[in-house]
Amino acid sequence: MSKLNELGLKNIEVTVKESIALVKMNRPKALNALNNDTLKELVSIFDVIKEEKGVLGVIVTGEGKGFVAGADITQMQNYKSEQGREYAEFAQSVFNKIENLEKPVIAAVNGYALGGGSELALSCDIRIASSNAIFGQPEVSLGIIPCFGGTQRLPRLIGSGLAKELIYTGRMVKAEEALSMGYVNKVVSPEELIPASIEMMKSILKNAPMAIGYAKVAINRGLEMDIANGLELEKDAAALCFATEDKQEGMDAFVEKRKAEFKNR
Ligand code: CAA
Repeated sequence: MSKLNELGLKNIEVTVKESIALVKMNRPKALNALNNDTLKELVSIFDVIKEEKGVLGVIVTGEGKGFVAGADITQMQNYKSEQGREYAEFAQSVFNKIENLEKPVIAAVNGYALGGGSELALSCDIRIASSNAIFGQPEVSLGIIPCFGGTQRLPRLIGSGLAKELIYTGRMVKAEEALSMGYVNKVVSPEELIPASIEMMKSILKNAPMAIGYAKVAINRGLEMDIANGLELEKDAAALCFATEDKQEGMDAFVEKRKAEFKNR
């Protein structure tokens, strides 16, 4: 884990245990709002995690009463058009990196997930919310629109009608309502948030890591295609799985009635 330890992080904490990286947004005085430095730290972290064989899954959470309360408004206050576009472009590239990581990523949403915070959660594969989590896209109240991916990922997740309601009104949604919208997968008590997220991650990681990675690629890219092309992609991804040692191990173990020991190869 030395490379993660060498990053000199100030606004985010990362710990790795049992192949799971816990990425904790840690700028609680600003409810973990995403300034440029924090976004750059996310880039370094996910660049290392991508290459790090010892990390098979990631959980993103926040310190204090915020998951992430959005982009840093003080930083954007005097931005004009070009700077706004550059900031959006940079943040989008960061969240694309998270979405494209070929390892599972769970957002463990502990509190406010507003604006860029909701968009960070949306770039993760799965969202588990603490019962006191609050979601929302309040950007129009600031005269802008969600621009870290929210106008694209939120309607893809919960449908355009609900996404338009949330984005146009900017209203905040508590965890239970977010669950009913399909915004989050599960709601647990605040104490259970990290244990439940680890438990779900472990239930993912007992399976073949490369198969999970290929499934993620097939789902994410397939959602952007028509079904015929999506099915082509699925066939190619399946062929890649059939070429892995873990496929042999998984099927041999089934036939031999034993537990598979996957090696991520
Ligand atoms: N940017 C910068 N600072 C922020 C922040 C943000 N997004 N959200 C909270 N903070 C700061 C507050 O200014 C405050 O700092 P001070 O103590 O120095 O005054 C500190 O965090 C604590 O916040 P509050 O005192 O406001 O806490 P609260 O419990 O009264 O309210 C809240 C919590 C409802 C989340 C409120 O802080 C809030 O509305 N925050 C802004 C949420 C928001 O609009 N987010 C969207 C940003 S735009 C965006 O994200 C664009 C995009 O698409 C990416």
